Amino acid sequence: MKVQVCIIGGGPSGLLLSQLLHLQGIDTVVLERQSRDYVLGRIRAGVLEHGFARLMREAQCGDRMDREGEIHNGFEIAHDGVLDRVDLFKHSGGNSVMVYGQTELTRDLYEARDRLGGKIVHNAEDVTLHDLTSDAPFVTWRSGDGIGRVDCDYVIGADGFHGVSRKSIPSAVLREYEKVYPFGWLGVLSRTKPVSGELIYARHERGFALCSMRSHVLSRYYIQVPLSDHVEDWSDDAFWAELKRRLPDEVAARLITGPSIEKSIAPLRSYVAEPMRYGRLFLAGDAAHIVPPTGAKGLNTAASDVYYLHQALVARYKTGDEAALDGYSDRALARVWKAQRFSWWMTTLLHRFPDHIAYDQKLQQTELAYLFSSETAQRLLAENYVGLPF
Ligand code: FAD
Ligand code: DHB
Repeated sequence: MKVQVCIIGGGPSGLLLSQLLHLQGIDTVVLERQSRDYVLGRIRAGVLEHGFARLMREAQCGDRMDREGEIHNGFEIAHDGVLDRVDLFKHSGGNSVMVYGQTELTRDLYEARDRLGGKIVHNAEDVTLHDLTSDAPFVTWRSGDGIGRVDCDYVIGADGFHGVSRKSIPSAVLREYEKVYPFGWLGVLSRTKPVSGELIYARHERGFALCSMRSHVLSRYYIQVPLSDHVEDWSDDAFWAELKRRLPDEVAARLITGPSIEKSIAPLRSYVAEPMRYGRLFLAGDAAHIVPPTGAKGLNTAASDVYYLHQALVARYKTGDEAALDGYSDRALARVWKAQRFSWWMTTLLHRFPDHIAYDQKLQQTELAYLFSSETAQRLLAENYVGLPF
């Protein structure tokens, strides 16, 4: 097979890039290691920046999101016995976020690719990248007993944190920055009415908690847990009891509980790989960087990479100009690091760290008190939460 752009990974980054390139007449194939059902079974992010929502519309994938997604103009932070609201709309100059699950978004992207006859290979095993520093790179994979091969101009590594693409860059070229947090998030999805119309982030002495949602009838809740905990150790009852302890009394009293339909623990980690390019290989999304989920930036940072990369590839194919491709890594990383900073800030502000001394806790409390006493501080939070421009 010969295509212009071979995309490794059929998650949101790979699918969105393939769709945007297709709309500009650029031929792609997506190689995905898992089955489509497996990809669509993953429960991940839920909050889209307004710029991402715009990009979904530009990709002709925004109709269901606009019908079923919920615009949120603010969220709340529970701390020190009070519930304070961040007015995103007011403090960001009229912007907001869209609550729409990554699972639904991925389904919309697959449907859009199907409508346009996009090429997607599922169950592609042992994907291997070849000759990345030549003018004629190619990618091979195993499918059952057969070997597939695609020749291309460019290879895009959109295969997530554990993918093969980043690992194909020689270690002498790659610089890695990493911070591992000493806790994880235990998440529960339940078919219950969300406890509040807006998200509630809670800082509590027993640890962080988050009340989120996917729709009017589907709730997503998280609690901070030690890394040594296993999901099997947490019954639904134990989860609900611990969540209630970390919420203000009036919120806990109206929390509707029910059986979990998904329960998992995600460790919290910050990671950036530089550069995001090696020869004809370009990385996008989690393949190049991850953030702790506190600021809801993981999926959104993937979207800005895809935006920059699709612009650069369109410029290359429409005018032959490679300047944007050459500048892609620096341009994407500049925004990536701002999302890293914001995610680190929200994580540090709201979690209980095992090595924190009383002094650190006072600083957290002071930071929150300052935040809600200063319009300037709320503006900084709001402009980052709704998404910096791209
Ligand atoms: P992915 O979604 O990881 O997609 C990569 C794809 O590549 C996958 O489909 C994978 O199967 C495929 N792949 C991997 N290896 C290979 C290979 N060798 N060959 C071919 N294909 C391969 N973000 C938030 O903002 N909020 C959240 O609550 C949140 N929760 C998360 C929970 C978990 C458990 C994880 C892992 C991430 C979470 N994130 C969250 C982050 C967010 O989901 C990611 O930032 C987003 O999925 C990035 O999209 P992506 O397409 O770059 O990578
Ligand atoms: C969700 C996850 C987040 O990390 C966040 O900050 C907000 C919402 C969620 O999964 O709904």
